[in-house]
Amino acid sequence: MTQRQIPKWSELKPLMRPKPLRFDATERRLADALTIADLRTVARHRTPRSVFDYTDGAAEAEITLGRARSLFRNLELRPSILHDVSAVDTTTDMLGKPAAVPFSFAPTGFTRLMHHEGERAVARVAERRGIPYALSTMGTTSIEDVAEAAPEARKWFQLYVWKDRSAGEDLMGRAKAAGYEALQLTVDVPVAGARLRDARNGFAIPPALTVKTVLDAATHPAWWMNLLTTEPLTFASLSEWSGTVADLLDKLFDATMTIADLEWLRASWDGPLIIKGIQTIEDARRVTDAGADAIVLSNHGGRQLDRAPVPLRLVPDVVEAVGDRTEVWVDTGIMSGADIVAALALGADATMVGRAYLYGLMAGGERGVDRAAEILTREVRRTMALLGVTRVDELGPQHVRLP
Ligand SMILES: Cc1cc2nc3c(=O)[nH]c(=O)nc-3n(C[C@H](O)[C@H](O)[C@H](O)COP(=O)(O)O)c2cc1C
Repeated sequence: MTQRQIPKWSELKPLMRPKPLRFDATERRLADALTIADLRTVARHRTPRSVFDYTDGAAEAEITLGRARSLFRNLELRPSILHDVSAVDTTTDMLGKPAAVPFSFAPTGFTRLMHHEGERAVARVAERRGIPYALSTMGTTSIEDVAEAAPEARKWFQLYVWKDRSAGEDLMGRAKAAGYEALQLTVDVPVAGARLRDARNGFAIPPALTVKTVLDAATHPAWWMNLLTTEPLTFASLSEWSGTVADLLDKLFDATMTIADLEWLRASWDGPLIIKGIQTIEDARRVTDAGADAIVLSNHGGRQLDRAPVPLRLVPDVVEAVGDRTEVWVDTGIMSGADIVAALALGADATMVGRAYLYGLMAGGERGVDRAAEILTREVRRTMALLGVTRVDELGPQHVRLP
């Protein structure tokens, strides 16, 4: 029989450790979010449905995004035991210069719609944490304003090639003058992908006031208040637009562009060139031959071609084909630091994250982006230690097995 006693106050007292009171609701929500998936849940409640869906969604049946995420979930990490992992260094080289962590913030359009602090918030976190940030052509803060908000951040400018080539040249000139380090050319948008959630939600820029959106305003008053009381949504690179995102992409982008146009680009931009949206070994070779300093294996987060190749799966073969001549980066589907570590172990030089920081932004503006970066950084560090490595270049194929 177990002997029982009445608990004494002296024994209970040391156990009473109430959680610190946080009066700021955003602080509380962010502190309670332990993973990027948790931030996504907060984001879903904090933003109107059409804005959340624009960010969270992908093209057509969203098979591409689902496959990319499930490959990360289903791969196996293989630890090596009994190594001194008391000091883990997450530094990686990107474009030949050290970055604090092995990921950068991917370019994303319409960021100020997700939270009014928008691109400036992302750039400030990038600056504080030593994470490079690519401003999108479709960004909602100007090239110069982002530079002013985060003068010390490593900034890249993501270019879409427009029908009007001189507009592209003008943007590159502005980015150079504002101190942007590299140009990132996105090549997987010859035409807009079919984002069906946007079509179903009637998502438009600027948001249209319909019965549905007015009703939504009642349930997300803070978001609407911030939208209506801060500077109107304009773009990093075009003066104004009103319509759907797909119409905008199709109106601006040049579907006639070919690899020969990279010569024009090289003549207009003399800094490092990153080509984003490579999805085959053959294309990796072609753009490397054309002089890319880095390539990003990416299918645009599943937002363009549905049933596209899973970028992570391409990593080992592409690294073997061109890894000695260019840096090979990968994105699409990254939801944790362990995903990042797996990509590096397979041979990628670095990774990019898109939605992961956007969920943070929607959940709590700049503080939310910071929380997302903190979560990913801690996960990278912990996963490396658990695998038995202390430096990124110690990661290798022995640490991961793909299904
Ligand atoms: C809301 C949103 C907007 C995006 N806008 C752009 C863009 O303007 N230019 C671009 O090159 N890529 C854009 N992307 C793609 C990202 O740069 C990146 O490739 C993708 O988000 C990676 O997948 P992940 O979200 O699973 O991390 C966008 C992605 C999202 C989610």
